[in-house]
Amino acid sequence: MAAKNYKIAVIGGDGTGPEVVAEGLKVLKAASKKFGFNYTTEMFDYGGARYLKTGKTIDDKDLAELKKFDAIFLGAIGHPDVKPGILEQGILLKTRFGLDQYINLRPVKLYSSAFCPLKDKKPEDIDFVVVRENSEGLYKGMGEFQKKGTKDEVAIQISYNTRKGVERCIRYAFKLAQKRNKRKKLTLCGKTNVLTYAWDLWQRTFDEVKKDYPDVQTDYAHVDATTMWFVKNPEWFDVIVTDNLFGDIITDLGAMIQGGMGIAAGGNINPEGVSMFEPIGGSAPKYTGKHVINPLAAICAAGMMLDNLGEEKAAKAVEASVIKVSTGKLKSLAAGKMGYSTEEVGDLVVENL
Ligand code: IPM
Ligand code: MN
Repeated sequence: MAAKNYKIAVIGGDGTGPEVVAEGLKVLKAASKKFGFNYTTEMFDYGGARYLKTGKTIDDKDLAELKKFDAIFLGAIGHPDVKPGILEQGILLKTRFGLDQYINLRPVKLYSSAFCPLKDKKPEDIDFVVVRENSEGLYKGMGEFQKKGTKDEVAIQISYNTRKGVERCIRYAFKLAQKRNKRKKLTLCGKTNVLTYAWDLWQRTFDEVKKDYPDVQTDYAHVDATTMWFVKNPEWFDVIVTDNLFGDIITDLGAMIQGGMGIAAGGNINPEGVSMFEPIGGSAPKYTGKHVINPLAAICAAGMMLDNLGEEKAAKAVEASVIKVSTGKLKSLAAGKMGYSTEEVGDLVVENL
């Protein structure tokens, strides 16, 4: 069989995005040599700098272009001189929605106890995945102002949940629990006691769908309690499925218990289309150009991309190398405290591959 040749769109983006993406690409290159696949990259300059120069975020033509790729590798979007919301909605959310990347997959895995803020937790205690619905909920942008600017103003923000949208997300999570083949447990994280429309639909759908996966054990936790269990008993979780906003919130906490933003990666997945992989830490403007940002999250995102492309062996090797480097060498996972520069950490991952 001829070696595969993947087309990868690369969006470095803002702040430290391009620096960490460069290290991810370094590891990708080494992995391609070792595991015998080919790829080409094309760089896109979407981000804050381009917006400040041209007023452009991304449009439908750009989305059509991105659809031609096998995967997208993203650094970070967010610029201190651009009003909050413009780049997030105009680039990041526009891509997630436009390419129907309806799953936001966020593994929470502790590689080294030394970097865990929780007392006495070991790598085997923190190893779960959050499946965040990525196309609906409160992120849909539905709502309105009434009597704006008056004393009687009302702002309405709607959580939009469709049966189809909820079901495809829940099915993905059940299949993932089967595929991981660990505790084979899926926890629905919601708020059935207060949000009685949205979470009634989620709960009913969950209860119906679970009949198709009898080998998967199921559980339910309210979102507030979930944050408590993350800190107290993270070992209870295997796969968690939740809506867009709850998933956003709990995965920042998840990132902290796995060692911080320096190591947390995620995938915006369209199982039938083009997916996008990113470190979830943001653009970290104050560290830009200082060579101190931790590239491991971006390298882990590149690893997730390899897994998604079907290069599972390469993906496992990248993860194994990240584990070796983060447990054996780095003093910390935080920017500026690693004991190595951004580029040196990338080199270490390549050497240990
Ligand atoms: C994330 C981010 C985004 C989100 C922002 C930047 C729009 O926080 O990827 O978690 O809320 O989804
Ligand atoms: Mn977030």
